[in-house]
Amino acid sequence: MKAPKLVTLSVAVTAAALLASAQAAGKLEIFSWWSGDEGPALEALIKLYGQKYPGVNVDNATVTGGAGTNAKAVLKTRMLGGDPPDSFQAHAGQELTGTWVVADRMEDLSSLYKSEGWASKFPKAVIDLITYKGGIYSVPVNVHRSNVMWYVPANLKKWGVTAPTNWTQFLTTCQKLKAQGLAAPLVVGENWTQQHLWESVALGTLGAQGWRDLWAGKIKFTDPRAVAVWTMFGKVMDCANKDASSLSWQQATDRLLAGQAAFNVMGDWAAGYMTTTKKLKPGTGFAWSASPSTSGSFMMLADSFGLPKGAKDRAEALNWLKVLGSKEGQDTFNPLKGSIAARTDSDVSKYNVYSQSAAKDWHSKQIVGSMFHGAVAPESFTSNFGTIVDAFVSSHDAKAAANAAQQLATKARIGM
Ligand code: GAL
Repeated sequence: MKAPKLVTLSVAVTAAALLASAQAAGKLEIFSWWSGDEGPALEALIKLYGQKYPGVNVDNATVTGGAGTNAKAVLKTRMLGGDPPDSFQAHAGQELTGTWVVADRMEDLSSLYKSEGWASKFPKAVIDLITYKGGIYSVPVNVHRSNVMWYVPANLKKWGVTAPTNWTQFLTTCQKLKAQGLAAPLVVGENWTQQHLWESVALGTLGAQGWRDLWAGKIKFTDPRAVAVWTMFGKVMDCANKDASSLSWQQATDRLLAGQAAFNVMGDWAAGYMTTTKKLKPGTGFAWSASPSTSGSFMMLADSFGLPKGAKDRAEALNWLKVLGSKEGQDTFNPLKGSIAARTDSDVSKYNVYSQSAAKDWHSKQIVGSMFHGAVAPESFTSNFGTIVDAFVSSHDAKAAANAAQQLATKARIGM
């Protein structure tokens, strides 16, 4: 009678031990907008985390929508409702700082940077973007380039054109293509992709220093140089498809690949999509150049993850950040994502020719920050700028757009 009891007891003890160890391994919720076609790089990073910290139950919580247009709204509700994810994606720079750091919602990660020896592993320009009053508030996983123009070499050859190097040349090329029956030589997508295009036109029109001056408040949006950005943007948009608002950035890329358009201006997550999802070879399946008139500049943005105050699984989140900031983590994530590592010691042999050229440019060009992807402008600006772009696209009134942009900049305290 006794033996079976013992067996039962030992089974019970084993089950309890297993349960305890599973509980000890814990859980982790990671919040981002990298779902579907944008998912593979993050999934690879989560897999690496799983190898290093086995048994942790990872909830890969994503909210679909390019550039985080939907995710940021959901995040806001959760943060303000006292239900922060354990770690969330936010752009290094004004987006994270202006929204969550100044509101005292994020933990200072300076001690993590110290224990991991990261201070010397990330470029100073990137560290500066995530520093506020001496504290460091997130871990950048990458550097993306915003000012890139994509095309399919075989298609340009067929149409007898080359990639334009400045916006005036772009307009001439556009007319040449239209004359051949290509109704919309440039493909754009939903509103945020037009804002993305706007920043490339602005950088090309103002130059790197002019762009910096705009965000430092030294050039007003109503300055004739800034009004000229809208005039050029209007001409460029005249070369684009009229059904833009119904297209995601991936669908816009698909049109380019299908030969329904000659050019697309998009960040280099498009390279990730074309290589990882579409299995195309950079250089032949698709090619790139700096967006017109911006070949001397690298407009950057960095995806970073932070640790919100009140995270339920703080220890797991810290381990997640360690993986994300490690050389191995960055060289696992970025070759799939189309971005380059934020760290300076990454292994370039793991990257394709597009990324290798981006890495070279990162070291040799003028670095400026992206507006729409949160490096230089706060969310209070970017979340309202889209309305101005929409109004402009239908009215083509450059002065009205410039005035509205200045009002918004004043409200968002840009340059103050
Ligand atoms: C950007 C982000 C990129 C990519 C892109 C499209 O804001 O930094 O990593 O996700 O949006 O969704």
